[in-house]
Amino acid sequence: MESPLQIVIFGASGDLTRRKLVPALARLAADGRVGAPFSVLGVSRSDKTDEVFRNELAAAMPEAARAAFEALAPRVHYQPGDVESPDSLAKLTARLDALPGGDASGRLFYLSLKPGLFATAVTRLAEAGLLAMAEGEPRAWRRVVIEKPFGHDLASAQALNAALHGAVREEQLYRIDHYLGKETVQNLLGFRFHNAIFEPLWNRNHVELVQITVAESIGVEQGRGGYYDGTGALRDMLQNHMLQVLAFVAMEPPVSLDPAAIRGQKVELLRALHCPDPEELRRSCVRARYGPGDVEGTPVPGYRDEQGVPADSQTETYVALRAEIDSWRWSGVPFLLRHGKRLPKRFSEVQIQFHTPPLQLFNRPDDMEHAEFRRRLRDGSLCQIRPNVLTLAIQPREAIQLSFGVKQPGSSLAMAPATLGFDYREHFGAAPADAYERLLLDALLGDQTLFLHADEIEASWRYADEVRNCWAGADAPPLLEYPAGSWGPAEAQGLFQGCEGGWSRG
Ligand code: BG6
Repeated sequence: MESPLQIVIFGASGDLTRRKLVPALARLAADGRVGAPFSVLGVSRSDKTDEVFRNELAAAMPEAARAAFEALAPRVHYQPGDVESPDSLAKLTARLDALPGGDASGRLFYLSLKPGLFATAVTRLAEAGLLAMAEGEPRAWRRVVIEKPFGHDLASAQALNAALHGAVREEQLYRIDHYLGKETVQNLLGFRFHNAIFEPLWNRNHVELVQITVAESIGVEQGRGGYYDGTGALRDMLQNHMLQVLAFVAMEPPVSLDPAAIRGQKVELLRALHCPDPEELRRSCVRARYGPGDVEGTPVPGYRDEQGVPADSQTETYVALRAEIDSWRWSGVPFLLRHGKRLPKRFSEVQIQFHTPPLQLFNRPDDMEHAEFRRRLRDGSLCQIRPNVLTLAIQPREAIQLSFGVKQPGSSLAMAPATLGFDYREHFGAAPADAYERLLLDALLGDQTLFLHADEIEASWRYADEVRNCWAGADAPPLLEYPAGSWGPAEAQGLFQGCEGGWSRG
């Protein structure tokens, strides 16, 4: 048996700890995947005992993790404390030294704190000696996990990186983007680089456009209005989760699965994103905010009426962008990115739409002459062939689907749409594991592949900042309004200009 590990969660009274982190740790312990026993120490300002903390966690535990949590509970502890106070950190050190393994254990510090506290927390932990790695003691490692958001623009992300690097080494930092923990997002890499059939098609010669959607039916959850209003859809979802998905979809093949090789290709791709000037952006971007409406049969308020949101808010809850990548592989291929809250349903997916054949031979109406058929196809008044589309569904459906045309049975040569499909649950008999389970496991095992490097974050902010700067200018695209429960403003359809098709409905 490996020597014991210790996991310290700052922000232990928060929602993320109850809903995601502890259930994920309970499942990891139950499955024995970490390979070593571990203790969990929750830290937050409120004063409570181990017992009270365990009871709070137990009450919030999802059904599927209950039995696992009961087994873990005796190893879950609580320490009241403030990460900014040296006195608290001295007490924390003593408490950790007294837990199984003492200071010879590998220690993971999970910062589920307010973003403004990340730099201070890491600096204080380092000053308290809690992040020092003893020479020749590889098992007594010290790692820090940092939740998103990582900065709110390029300058603040750079300042945060500088502060972190002043306290710890890059190898000790695990910056989370929970989308990278999703099985279906990781599968983008596997699907592209393990199968030889699609990669030769994966470029501007064969791809007409790429669509990436992250649609949510929820609005701004209780207690999040104030935070969200200072953030908006572009910074909350597009700058991080969606650009990470885009990087996996469009990056060049890495030479190995070494974390540095994968990150290197992602950074290159993110740096190749074309930063639009204000004039280009007006044509290639739609932003909007939801008004009152109806979602899944329930009336819901508009964004400005949500708790904590100022009545004169100018924050977007929807963004659609036609992005371009300045590279040999992708030059001229639109990457249509769309995210919105309060859309009719929750789904995330990537669609790769291929070029249509150069000439349409099939589906001439019986009563139409050949010459007339050709003329109508040329002037665009007759419906074109449906393009082949490869859909990589990320959530809630975890699946891959390829659409193509097949001949309809019968005497005429008429073609009909058909699909080939793969579904995770059907194929593997179980749904993929939760993203936090995978990410916590990797952080405990010391694998940084699915965590963000300083360079990737900065490259993503560079792009997001360009977009936001244009929004602040005189030529900015207007902030539109869409009814909650609709698919967003109709103007977003205009981003397809010059291409076949429209936005997917999941
Ligand atoms: C978070 C955002 O990072 O991701 C939330 O801050 C969003 O606003 C959430 O709702 C979506 O995550 P998922 O895994 O449900 O798609």
